[in-house]
Amino acid sequence: MATTIITKEQWAESEKFITKLKEVNIRFAQQNGRMRLAHTETYGCQQNVNDTERIRGMLDKAGFGFTDDAKEADLVIYNTCAVRENAEQRVFGRLGILKHIKETKPELIVAVCGCMVQQEHICEKIKKVHDHVDLIFGTHALYRMPELLYRTITENETVVDITNSDGAICEDVPILRDRAEKAWVSIMYGCNNFCTYCIVPYVRGRERSRKPEDILNEIKGLVANGTTEISLLGQNVNSYGKDLDTEIDFADLLRMVNDIEGVERIRFMTSHPKDLSDKLIYTIRDCDKICKQLHLPLQSGSDKILKDMNRHYTKEQYLAIVEKLKKEIPGITLTTDIIVGFPTETTPDFRETLEVLKSVRYDNIFSFIYSRREGTPAAKLDFALSDEEIHKNFEEMLEVQNQICLEKNLEYKDKIETVLVEDVSDTEPTILTGRNDGGKLVTFAGDASLKGKYVKVKITKPKQWSLEGELQ
Ligand code: 5AD
Ligand code: SF4
Repeated sequence: MATTIITKEQWAESEKFITKLKEVNIRFAQQNGRMRLAHTETYGCQQNVNDTERIRGMLDKAGFGFTDDAKEADLVIYNTCAVRENAEQRVFGRLGILKHIKETKPELIVAVCGCMVQQEHICEKIKKVHDHVDLIFGTHALYRMPELLYRTITENETVVDITNSDGAICEDVPILRDRAEKAWVSIMYGCNNFCTYCIVPYVRGRERSRKPEDILNEIKGLVANGTTEISLLGQNVNSYGKDLDTEIDFADLLRMVNDIEGVERIRFMTSHPKDLSDKLIYTIRDCDKICKQLHLPLQSGSDKILKDMNRHYTKEQYLAIVEKLKKEIPGITLTTDIIVGFPTETTPDFRETLEVLKSVRYDNIFSFIYSRREGTPAAKLDFALSDEEIHKNFEEMLEVQNQICLEKNLEYKDKIETVLVEDVSDTEPTILTGRNDGGKLVTFAGDASLKGKYVKVKITKPKQWSLEGELQ
């Protein structure tokens, strides 16, 4: 399999352009009396959030400042998602607004990157309809951004790089993270599963794992800077290491992270049910720092639909895993992803999904109406249900799950939870928010100085989407 490791030499080439950009930006600052400002927006999953942190890391080194306000910016970068159509439409909407801004501010640089533009038909549409976009680069060109941006700024013409590849790993791209207490760490990129509805394998390339030592070094560096909660990221973490020439699998990697002094909490996502081993279940059970929480996408509760989706497990196999998880790790928080309205799904199929929700009783679900993705096998299928029927089913599912969410949260009444304090409320400076071991949002009154600390909170008022409590 062709995983390209970006060599130190190749990265050094890219880095030269960071230096060149910096020179250009210093001149800009001298002429304008202020730094050149960048504004980034991220759509989609945590992998994209992590990629944007790399983009910001490179921009920071290249002498850009940052602004939250697109109108104030000299450079706007949208890091896009292709998983569902509505995420794409939002980006097209934003590009429309930027067109007006650019009419009064022609020097504004507009860049679009990520999964959406890795699809050729979207790239073509942007070039045709949104000719005010100056720079387009796909997921595989991320580490080349300094050169592409330098060319955009100095050559004054549209630069496009959506070169396809099975995928590359570049270890040296700097990362600028927003928060100190917790961090996302990518352990692998891409996906080999080709679920029939999903665009990810086409835009992110084949599965490729980072070397354990690179991951562990990154985490040690984070801990040295005060980070205590680590979330390991990959499209299918359960197949971590299969492409490496070591014997280390995901459970082994988790144990190694668990052994790092200073790490307090470990989370991970996403787990594909077909690859979830007993060894992993025992590792979650036995390692004190691994949060007792699992996100395990079900997608559908009907065997026929699971087969049509190419998921490689049956409802029975999935439920057996859940049973084992609940037996070995009592109180484990379970969440899932569900797609409603897959083309071949009938209402009896949908009812089977509802039955699984009622029997597993997830703490939360992320539910999506199926979105047709050009180039995927499911895009060729006819729909069994009308739009109206699909929406009706979707609403029914939300109603069922909302009730379960509330009931699951009510179980926390009077319990004392350990909470990592993450934020101070925007509207009330005396209200803090954080998460318990299971990842549930907890709100309570407290002093802002507690941010980043672990505190005990007694849950006094469980609600549907959060737990309200009192600091102990
Ligand atoms: N339509 C709707 N939802 C999708 N997902 C992936 N592809 C699609 C699609 N075409 C959902 C799956 C996946 C989550 C990240 O997004 O549930 O687990
Ligand atoms: Fe998409 Fe399936 Fe891969 Fe997840 S496992 S990214 S749903 S193809």
